[in-house]
Amino acid sequence: MSLFARIREDINSVLERDPAARSRLEVLLCYPGLWAVWFHRVSHYLWRAKLRLPARMLSQFARFLTGVDIHPGALLGRRLFIDHATGVVIGETAIVASDVTMYQGVTLGGTGKGHGKRHPTVCDGVFIGNNANLLGNITIGENSRVGAGSVVLDDVPPNSTVVGVPAHIVYHNGERVLITDPHDVKDPLSDALIALSARVEELEKRSGGKPRPAEPFAAEEAERSAYRRELERLRQYVTMGEGI
Ligand SMILES: CC(C)(COP(=O)(O)OP(=O)(O)OC[C@H]1O[C@@H](n2cnc3c(N)ncnc32)[C@H](O)[C@@H]1OP(=O)(O)O)[C@@H](O)C(=O)NCCC(=O)NCCS
Repeated sequence: MSLFARIREDINSVLERDPAARSRLEVLLCYPGLWAVWFHRVSHYLWRAKLRLPARMLSQFARFLTGVDIHPGALLGRRLFIDHATGVVIGETAIVASDVTMYQGVTLGGTGKGHGKRHPTVCDGVFIGNNANLLGNITIGENSRVGAGSVVLDDVPPNSTVVGVPAHIVYHNGERVLITDPHDVKDPLSDALIALSARVEELEKRSGGKPRPAEPFAAEEAERSAYRRELERLRQYVTMGEGI
């Protein structure tokens, strides 16, 4: 594929994904995330040609210009769109497949512990919200979505949505995933939750045992569904701007 065809493909992918982009000229002139990817293609070429220092210098110049710090050793696929650009960091052994979208502040970093392949692998079609941190040699499966501000420390299966610190799955293959077991909450509060739930169970047993609801959290989920339906109904009357 010629250089100009690749540039045209990149610009078209931004027009498809960003409702705020109005023309090819605007994308060419006003999207530093794209410039960062283009600089990376040159610095990666230098890196592979064993011109390590010039490659690093070029990537640092690109960082100065765009606010995106991509190590020249990182492998980037086609049609990567980095929206708003500032503060994105992509480490040396990161692999980003095709059609990935990420926002400002995303880090594909190491945990500071490993050597060798120590940065994430992001598969095709993944969406990464702003300021998400993906740390370590983990894999984010195809078409998954990472919520803004999440900290992802484990592999994410394909077609999933993960949110939170540390991140947990909230959707998988279009189905809502509800956490019903405190062992699945891997944050500092989970031990307290586990102890609490064991205590409640013990007290229930002592008091003769109160029957548990057939579907844990069913009432909460029904309430959320009703709320979402109401929001959907209101959206028919209120039209908000499409741009993000
Ligand atoms: C992750 C994301 C894609 C999920 O969107 P979605 O599929 O519509 O999911 P929902 O809004 O139904 O959220 C599902 C649950 O996750 C929670 N959630 C969603 N995003 C979250 C986030 N970033 N952090 C923590 N929790 C989040 C919701 O509160 C909801 O929980 P609840 O049902 O217990 O109330 C979206 O929330 C997101 O973070 N997008 C990033 C946008 C972005 O970076 N914009 C930058 C513009 S400059």
